[in-house]
Amino acid sequence: MMKVAPSVLSADFGNLQKDVEEICNGGCDLVHVDVMDGHFVPNLTIGPVVVSSIAKCATKPLDIHLMVENNTFFVDMFAPLKPEYISFHIEEEKHPHRLIQKIRSLGIKPAIVLNPHTPAESIEYLLKDLDMVLLMSVNPGFGGQSFIDTVIEKASRLNELRNRLNPNCLIEVDGGVTNENVQALKDVGVDIVVAGSYVFKQEDRAKAIRSLQI
Ligand code: DX5
Ligand code: ZN
Repeated sequence: MMKVAPSVLSADFGNLQKDVEEICNGGCDLVHVDVMDGHFVPNLTIGPVVVSSIAKCATKPLDIHLMVENNTFFVDMFAPLKPEYISFHIEEEKHPHRLIQKIRSLGIKPAIVLNPHTPAESIEYLLKDLDMVLLMSVNPGFGGQSFIDTVIEKASRLNELRNRLNPNCLIEVDGGVTNENVQALKDVGVDIVVAGSYVFKQEDRAKAIRSLQI
């Protein structure tokens, strides 16, 4: 079954505990946390103070998506919160292999994120060391954007690569995911979808989550 990681970027930050509890009680698989530094992407979100509050009320594991310039600094900052995954952008890391080992040494599953223009093949020689690859289906920085459908072909290529090189590595897709495109993602081997606005704009979050768990 497709796993679902609602992005708290679309939650009501005035009622964060209520929204986090609602998605966890509503059966989500992971809680996706978008960390933006105002440099790698033109938006600024949350740091360890707010993420530790999320960690306290979340009953599902955290999936931290770094959209930052200085990955190592942020990995050290978030590691004490014991997320399940920390993912970093390949476009912003000179030494991805080293950072993967560092994240793993901290007891966290390492993941790499690819922007819409970055080919699946760019991480071929890293795949065997990864627990997950996150494919962006929007340009990182904001919730509520529309789905870039070239990600389908990319996910299909990545699926072939991981089946050959590391079948345990999961494929996650982030951005513009709805009940209308989730089947196409499942068909090409995607394991986890991130959904922000689709889940949080609906009154019944549990029902929204279920509609993606196909
Ligand atoms: C974008 C973030 C996404 C975003 C998804 O930079 O990485 O996680 O919150 O939001 P939707 O589902 O609304 O596109
Ligand atoms: Zn994200």
